[in-house]
Amino acid sequence: MNEALSVVVLGASGYTGAEVLRWCLAHPRLRVVGATSVRHVGVPLASLWPQFHGFTDIVLSADAPDADVAFFCLPHGEAARRAPSFNAKVLIDLSGDHRLPDAQHARWYGSPREGGPWAYGLPELGGLAGARRIANPGCFATALALALLPFRGRLPPVVHATGLTGSTGSGATPQTGTHHPSRAENLRPYRDKVLKHQHSPEVEQALGGGFRLQFVPISAPVRRGILVSIPLPGATLAEWATFYAAHPLVRVLPEPPDLHGVLGSPRADLSVVEGEDGEAVVFCAIDNLCRGAGSQAVANLNLAMGWPVDLGLRTIPPVP
Ligand SMILES: NC(=O)c1ccc[n+]([C@@H]2O[C@H](COP(=O)([O-])OP(=O)(O)OC[C@H]3O[C@@H](n4cnc5c(N)ncnc54)[C@H](OP(=O)(O)O)[C@@H]3O)[C@@H](O)[C@H]2O)c1
Repeated sequence: MNEALSVVVLGASGYTGAEVLRWCLAHPRLRVVGATSVRHVGVPLASLWPQFHGFTDIVLSADAPDADVAFFCLPHGEAARRAPSFNAKVLIDLSGDHRLPDAQHARWYGSPREGGPWAYGLPELGGLAGARRIANPGCFATALALALLPFRGRLPPVVHATGLTGSTGSGATPQTGTHHPSRAENLRPYRDKVLKHQHSPEVEQALGGGFRLQFVPISAPVRRGILVSIPLPGATLAEWATFYAAHPLVRVLPEPPDLHGVLGSPRADLSVVEGEDGEAVVFCAIDNLCRGAGSQAVANLNLAMGWPVDLGLRTIPPVP
């Protein structure tokens, strides 16, 4: 029996941190030894998030102990600042700090970064075996890249995409735009990010470039979940199904996917609806906190360690 890897989660009092913990605590080869917070130091995790009651005694701390694996679930800039002082075997950053090349990073995130880009962690792209520094993709970027991946190298020069997302995408700290009265019973395009979202260059790069992604992000009145739709002439359901047949964290459906099929699930649901004369629309649904963040980070660790990509992630989402 192999010994479990020790894990620390930085930012465990936030939404993606809690989600990483949820998957790590159920994983057969991981052992959580530390979880950090700024505002909740000394608080048992199970007091902050009662869902963890009975599963862990861990108490939130200001600093993380040494561990084999560190997940950074921190605001922009913090992972890049902290990573150099970590000796962990594997570092996985859920923020945008290590996804883009230097010049693009400065342009889209507004500040230079030390340390360069890390291995990009979309499991279906491959190439993560042995990786020790992994940049977990953005949540919108995950759904968009998965929708387009089978057409990599054949995409039109301009791709138009629309995506709706739930309020947990903005993190656990309340802000004016995420306040319940402004989000409930409302649909609102992101005011400052229509055609300017930082996940567009991320997807362009992940898929090898050669096209521009014109993306319209929209806030939806749900807590979790992302649904993207992309008109893509020439796409077929058969090709998408064949492409993803060997990928357990993607399911290709004959009907357009919806959020209920993916909530709480590490899997992405995709479909292609074909019209006349080669017209087609590709859909992708994910849970932004699972496939778009926490469970994807664990899937990337699995690949880095040479384990099956879905080790510890084989679950059926709740019905309904
Ligand atoms: N939410 C999503 O759907 C999603 C999906 C993919 C990627 N991401 C990315 O993942 C990262 C975390 O997002 P989130 O939604 O989990 O955010 P969040 O809910 O706001 O949580 C942030 C966490 O970081 C801690 N923190 C805040 N400032 C810190 C500092 N200066 N030093 C150390 N720790 C600090 C917070 O501690 P306190 O609670 O004590 O303040 C909290 O634990 C972000 O970079 C985000 O862009 C988010």
